[in-house]
Amino acid sequence: DKGNHRHFMAKEIHEQPEVVSHTLSRYVDFTTGRTRLPDDLPFDFRGVRRLVISACGTAYYAGLTAKYWFERFARLPVDIDIASEFRYREAPLDPGDVSLFVSQSGETADTLAALRYCKGAGQKVAAVVNVQESTIAREADAVFPTLAGPEIGVASTKAFTCQLTALAAIAVAAGRVRGELSEADEERLVTALMEIPRYMAEALKREPQIEKLAKTLSKVEHVLYLGRGTSFPLALEGALKLKEISYIHAEGYAAGELKHGPIALIDETMPVIVIAPHDRIFEKTVSNMQEVAARGGRIILITDPKGAEATGVEPFETIVLPEMPATIAPLVYAIPIQLLAYHTAVSIGTDVDQPRNLAKSVTVE
Ligand code: F6R
Repeated sequence: DKGNHRHFMAKEIHEQPEVVSHTLSRYVDFTTGRTRLPDDLPFDFRGVRRLVISACGTAYYAGLTAKYWFERFARLPVDIDIASEFRYREAPLDPGDVSLFVSQSGETADTLAALRYCKGAGQKVAAVVNVQESTIAREADAVFPTLAGPEIGVASTKAFTCQLTALAAIAVAAGRVRGELSEADEERLVTALMEIPRYMAEALKREPQIEKLAKTLSKVEHVLYLGRGTSFPLALEGALKLKEISYIHAEGYAAGELKHGPIALIDETMPVIVIAPHDRIFEKTVSNMQEVAARGGRIILITDPKGAEATGVEPFETIVLPEMPATIAPLVYAIPIQLLAYHTAVSIGTDVDQPRNLAKSVTVE
């Protein structure tokens, strides 16, 4: 049932404040402001020397975002790879360490094979999964559920932000257990997490502006997405979302990589979507925007009021979200990214919920 939405994807985008809040309630105690891990966790984050994460597609981008969080909050080294690369690489693994898999369906063939490889190497395996009856959920030693509910649209939206929600809370919990975060740090971070739904609701209000912008975007052939820090995985996710449903060629890059190649693509026809909340590396992204502007590239900037003030360039369009704690930005900035892909595809007239050549669950390699 699509409710009063035209597509499942639209419904699922709009459901995010609610399902993220639901997922969060599993990992944080709203009254005490503390994180909570399952009591029967078969490993202790204190003893983990290295966390190995693998997943595919959008779930991989959630894992890549989590790497920044585990390293920052828990000072826990993270190796992350695409499951199809990881499984054949025969990476040396330390028995007794922990590996983590992220999957909406819990049936993705490469992710499952990677899980079995790690288990075979004597690791404890944990999985962030949306479908609780799935193979990955069954075979993992520890399951961290996402409570996104069934996701029907082939392009992942609410499952992605629920994965991020669970991963952020787990990273904070790990930081606490490992003594890297104080009780006050934990409370501050949990308070930020609890505000995600409110900020998401605010971000959804940008839909009319984004719908208009999508009309312009629907006429282009290539789009570049740039971001730094946790906005980098989101740039990759933005490009994936756009190409899978609108069939427009898009690429996501770490903003710092611009001058190492992709800058050659920039001309007046090339929209560059810059994801840049005003955080501690914002200034670095400003220089990249100036490089784009100097070559006539059309910048679509997604930022906050401070960022909008401090660009020093005149973007073609600016989507302004409220100022928010840096940790939650990737979850909230995901909304304009998803809406932009959605409305571009609708404007082109593609089959948004069932894009060509794609399946919801990739159970073959
Ligand atoms: C993109 C998308 C895919 C999946 C990928 C992994 O919108 O949905 O990239 O994220 O196929 O699927 P799961 O999470 O089911 O393992």
